[in-house]
Order: sequence, then structure tokens, then C-alpha cells
Amino acid sequence: MKKILATAFCIATLGCSPAHENSVAETETCLDYCAAQTERTLAQIASAGYGMSPRNIAPGDSTWNLCPVSKELWTEGFWPGVLWYDYEYTGNVEIREAAEKYTEALGFLSEIPAYDHDLGFIIFCSYGNGYRLTGNPEYREVILAAADRLASLYNPAAGTILSWPREMENLGGHNTIMDNMLNLEMLFWAAENGGRPEYAEIARSHADTTMKYNFRPDSTSYHVAVYDSSTGRHIRSCTHQGYSDDSMWARGQAWGIYGYTMCYRFTKDDKYRDFACKITDKYLSMLPDDLVPYWDFNDPEIPNVSRDASAAAVVASALVELSGYVGGEKGAAYLDTAKKMLRSLYENYRGGDSCPSFLVHSTGHRPAGTEIDYSIIYADYYFIEALLRLKSSL
Ligand code: GLY
Repeated sequence: MKKILATAFCIATLGCSPAHENSVAETETCLDYCAAQTERTLAQIASAGYGMSPRNIAPGDSTWNLCPVSKELWTEGFWPGVLWYDYEYTGNVEIREAAEKYTEALGFLSEIPAYDHDLGFIIFCSYGNGYRLTGNPEYREVILAAADRLASLYNPAAGTILSWPREMENLGGHNTIMDNMLNLEMLFWAAENGGRPEYAEIARSHADTTMKYNFRPDSTSYHVAVYDSSTGRHIRSCTHQGYSDDSMWARGQAWGIYGYTMCYRFTKDDKYRDFACKITDKYLSMLPDDLVPYWDFNDPEIPNVSRDASAAAVVASALVELSGYVGGEKGAAYLDTAKKMLRSLYENYRGGDSCPSFLVHSTGHRPAGTEIDYSIIYADYYFIEALLRLKSSL
């Protein structure tokens, strides 16, 4: 009866439909689930201290593996990011206090030279969300300092950021990976919030060059592009975490979809939105029925290989945003697909009672044999982000 009355109220006063009300209720069910899992994780890891970051859970296990925060651990911003998103949803001050503590344990990384491009993931998921929600001026300073560190990896000859300084010799020069697209967000943001204005130009140059050399004519992506460090000449494009040099690594394509959507947010340049649509359409055209990709679209062992729930979460989050930029029937179809992806993740890929992560079945680095079919913290981060984006779009 209560539900019927609520629906009648919704239709009479706001003009929204029962389908809309169902979407809101479904999204909140998922967010309530995330809130409960967040509290379980917090209880499980609290005694280890704020310098230990939850990274993954092995298949069938129920305990987070923790890693000490360090410049070499690219994933430590995601847990504080999850806490900030959970605080945004619940308003729970204990969660906010934990978010602050885990965030502040990472501040030292803005005071030392950038180890690699991942500084953007680390600082913007933690301090970026913290600043967005609290306006704490000290957080802004950390982000701006980290943007300076990240920008120091830019090579004007190549027109991109050096993603992995440690791989220069191994790969044969300046290298830029698809994942690096996400870290342009911190540069665009810094340029608009008191950092050096040229960071926006660096980010645009990086995005344009990546568009040229990290994608094939059929809109599938290469993980890595290698350039001559002195002249900037493109040498080759290849994979690192994918099946082969000419395959489409699922999370690589996901990073691209998210990255170009975000570039449009900051620049309003149609070329980024149109490119995001092109690579999204390619990705969507190749998905299995449940909308969660196998770890690489071209692994010949499909369907007997691991999925990557993290890629699905990244794309769902990007699609909610992209749907708002595209509008019309195509935009509505993107939003509908994002909802279906989130439903599929919640129904078939959730940790549930047996495991405190939001999601299971992600693949970290299959060629290296690591984190295959694991729960991984970044899958959870993009899942809750997607749900919050969806909630505010409804
Ligand atoms: N940024 C590394 C990965 O996506 O696995």
C-alpha cells in the first residue's frame, strides 16, 4: 500500500512514471548493498591501519588482501574513493572520518617525484572526491601539487605523458598506455582550479595523440604506444596486459571510453564526444549477452576464460555520463544499456554474503598470471561511481 501511495504521489506531483520509480528503487537497493559491504570491509581491515590498502580478494576467499601504500601501488586511491562515494550516499560521519584518514595517508605522494602516470588515479580518486565533497582547501593544494608532478612526465616531442618511466628501456622508448587517459582528469581539473592553465593543453595533446596511435581504424584499442623519446616519432603500438598486439583488451577499451567522455566534459569539443561514441559502439557490439566482457575480446579460448567485471563497471559509469552528452535516442539507449550493465553486475557478479567486495570476477593482469577472476578494488570504485551517477541522472 505504501508503495502504491508513493507511486501515486510521484506521478501526481513530479510527473514521473512507475518505471522511473522502479529505477530509483533499484539503484538505491544497489547503493544500500554497497554501503553494507563498505562497512564490512572497514570492520575487516581497520586494525591494519590507514597505511594498508585493500587491493583484492582471491576467488572463493572472503578476506581482503592488503598492500602497504607506496608510490608503486597504483590502486590505493580507490578505497578512499569508495569511502567518499559511500559518504556521499549515506551521509554517515564515521565513513567520512575513515575517508579522510585513508585519503590523508596518500598525501606524501604529492611531495615526491611521480613514479608514473598512476599518480592521477591515486590522488584524484581520493583527494579529488574529498575536495568535491568537503571543499577542504588543503586537499586542493595536494591535488595541484600532484598535477605538477604528473605534468612533469609530459614529453612535448611525443605530445603525451610518459606512462611508465621504468619501462623505457624494455619497451624501447617513451611509452603511453590507454589507462593514462583517466589521469588527464586531474590535469584538466587543475587547469580550471588554480593550477597552471597549460595543463589543459597537455591533456588535449595527450588525448589527440592517443587517439591517433592507441587505436586501430576499426576503433579497437592498443594498450601501449611507443615513441622515440627525443624526436617523438611513433615507433609501434602493442599490448602489455592484453591477449596480443592486435587484440582488444577489455579494460583498455573501457579506459578509452571513460577517458574521451571525460575529455568532452572539460573541453566541450565534439571530436572527443564523437570518438567516445565510436569506441563505445565498437565495445558494445562485441559484448556477450550479460554485458560483462571477457578479459580480452579476442582470446580464442572464450567462453572458457575469465571475465572482467571491472571493465564493465568502468564502462557503465562512462555510459551514464556519455548519455547526457549525446541526448536523443542514442543517449537514451546508452543510459538504458548502462542500467542493464549495472543490473547484470548486481545480479550475477556481486560478492554478496560470502565476500565483502561489491563485485567479484575481475581480471587484473592475465598475461602475468595475476589477479585472475578476483575481486579488485577498482571494480568496486567504478561500480559505486556508476550507481551514484545513475541516481543523479534519474
Ligand atoms: N591501470 C592498470 C590496469 O588497468 O590494470
